[in-house]
Amino acid sequence: MQNSGVAIIGSGSATPVASLDNQGMSQLVETSDEWIVSRTGIRERRLATGSESLSTIATIASRGALAMAGITPDDLDLIILATSTPDDLFGSASEIQAQLGAVKAVTFDLTAACSGFIFGLVTAAQYIRTGLYQNILLIGADILSRWVDWEDRRTCVLFGDGAGAVVLQAAASDRLLGFELRSDGTQNQCLKLAYKAQSQRLLEGFDVGKGTYQPITMNGQEVYRFALQRVPEVIDKALFRANISVDQIDWLLLHQANQRILDAIAQRLNIPEHKVISNLAQYGNTSAASIPLALDEAVRQGRIQSDDIIAASGFGAGLTWGAAIFRWGR
Ligand code: ACO
Repeated sequence: MQNSGVAIIGSGSATPVASLDNQGMSQLVETSDEWIVSRTGIRERRLATGSESLSTIATIASRGALAMAGITPDDLDLIILATSTPDDLFGSASEIQAQLGAVKAVTFDLTAACSGFIFGLVTAAQYIRTGLYQNILLIGADILSRWVDWEDRRTCVLFGDGAGAVVLQAAASDRLLGFELRSDGTQNQCLKLAYKAQSQRLLEGFDVGKGTYQPITMNGQEVYRFALQRVPEVIDKALFRANISVDQIDWLLLHQANQRILDAIAQRLNIPEHKVISNLAQYGNTSAASIPLALDEAVRQGRIQSDDIIAASGFGAGLTWGAAIFRWGR
């Protein structure tokens, strides 16, 4: 019988070399280490230089995931890149395919902001469950520093750059135990990286819009409220679908937005602190990269072990949010 279960069998990650700590941040805008740490838990973040591209860090993360999975680029059927900050608006997944030499793989980008990795995971799983593909590379990568307003202290202290990747493989038993995805466009204004056009006249009676994307804007308190209300709900729903109780979760792996958000969600779900994965002190909020980056670190540190049950949840612009419950490894 054909294998149509989903297993997540390898992870990798990569971050830019340069690190800006809160001390450095306070030379840019009126802020302090004390304010940033107490409100967010963030101590430093990695920032990509002009010569570090998204596809470069994503390719390094991908190589790590392929090596851990024990497969080669030739084995890949599909590459999905979850990102809001591609090097090329036409898509950057194909550039990664070229760098890896994954000649057989179909590629596309997927945009769902900080939920991109979870949305990508569920999307990838469908191709495996239908029996179409065997090996899929899913990458979450963002270079939000390209779009941060470096004069806006309410947002610039929060974000960092990075990439994480996982390999999904067809397996006899399905290790993606349950999921739930949600979107609410009525709250789209809370968090934007919006295109703004100026009218440009081509001919009499013919105007086109020509412009650029504007820096990130955010209503922090609305996003905070949204996360605290919606994330526990969506995790509960995914647990219900997985037929798993909260006590059975080994790890809570949330989008690394803010330590206060992580703590409050864990508390609402009654999940003890030692099960909560957090690395945002070192990296800040890396958007679509944050979940696979934290996952890869915990796997390589030997904290996450094969068969552990992980409850992962992403949430962010759109607004979008979602959760996936899976068993790590083969
Ligand atoms: N340094 C010093 N002071 C600051 C800073 C800063 N970096 N940023 C804001 N302040 C000031 C404000 O100007 C304000 O001063 P005022 O009262 O004189 O006007 C004061 O601090 C309080 O500002 P608030 O916005 O009310 O601060 P709050 O306690 O809400 O914390 C924060 C802000 C950390 C952004 C919080 O709202 C939050 O965590 N929101 C969630 C948003 C989030 O995580 N977004 C990430 C992207 S979305 C995602 O990934 C889900």
